[in-house]
Amino acid sequence: MLSLRNLHACYGQAHILADVSLDVGAGEVVVLLGRNGAGKSTTLKSIMGLLPPHSGEIHFDGARIDGKAPHDIARLGLGYVPEDRRIFTDLTVEENLEVGRQAERAKTPLWTPERVFALFPNLAEMRHRSAAQMSGGEQQMLAIARTLMGNPRLLLLDEPSEGLAPVIIAQMARSIGELKSQGLTVLLSEQNLHFASQVADRAYVLEKGRIRYQGAITELANDPDARRAYLSV
Ligand SMILES: Nc1ncnc2c1ncn2[C@@H]1O[C@H](COP(=O)(O)OP(=O)(O)O)[C@@H](O)[C@H]1O
Ligand SMILES: [Mg+2]
Repeated sequence: MLSLRNLHACYGQAHILADVSLDVGAGEVVVLLGRNGAGKSTTLKSIMGLLPPHSGEIHFDGARIDGKAPHDIARLGLGYVPEDRRIFTDLTVEENLEVGRQAERAKTPLWTPERVFALFPNLAEMRHRSAAQMSGGEQQMLAIARTLMGNPRLLLLDEPSEGLAPVIIAQMARSIGELKSQGLTVLLSEQNLHFASQVADRAYVLEKGRIRYQGAITELANDPDARRAYLSV
């Protein structure tokens, strides 16, 4: 469904991503692991067109998308939840969902607030609450919920477990598992290997902007040398 080929990305003179290639198949949950500064967010921004690649190619559903504008990429069916969440804190939960609502897309089930509330039951209980009065974990769930209202075919999540309490991380893992069982394709970035191993089928590990490992996440979890070399665990 998504394929990155020999991607290079730069901020000004700084060469950040070098020769990154990765694939995400329809229905898969794939995780991009790596320490702080490894290039995870840069990879997701490159996919969304927020940082146009210096060279290399990005294909989504057979169409080349590198060089397209972010709103055109989003319209093709890519939903993106950035690291900083960007929900509207002066709006209620329900209003945030309405802001995210988009037209139905062929081959994709239509998301409604009720369907979102079934996935994140604690959002249902606070649907009239202002987002400013929610915890970090609830805001993260709302950010994902709002993106789902755009009916994406591929969901990009930038470190969804970052800064959340363990009990909320467990809820997040269940929700992502539920999305997968409903057939949604997900590419997420993470530093938390335990969380990643609960949700992902396959992993890529980035170090200093290069892919250092790719394979089953269970293999990575059982390989202390690789963990020490590329991750903080
Ligand atoms: N806007 C920016 N301008 C210049 N350098 C940046 C910018 N954003 C990130 N970087 C640098 O790019 C590298 C990768 O960052 P990032 O993709 O955010 O890593 P990660 O998400 O894995 O923590 C880091 O060295 C970071 O300092
Ligand atoms: Mg990041």
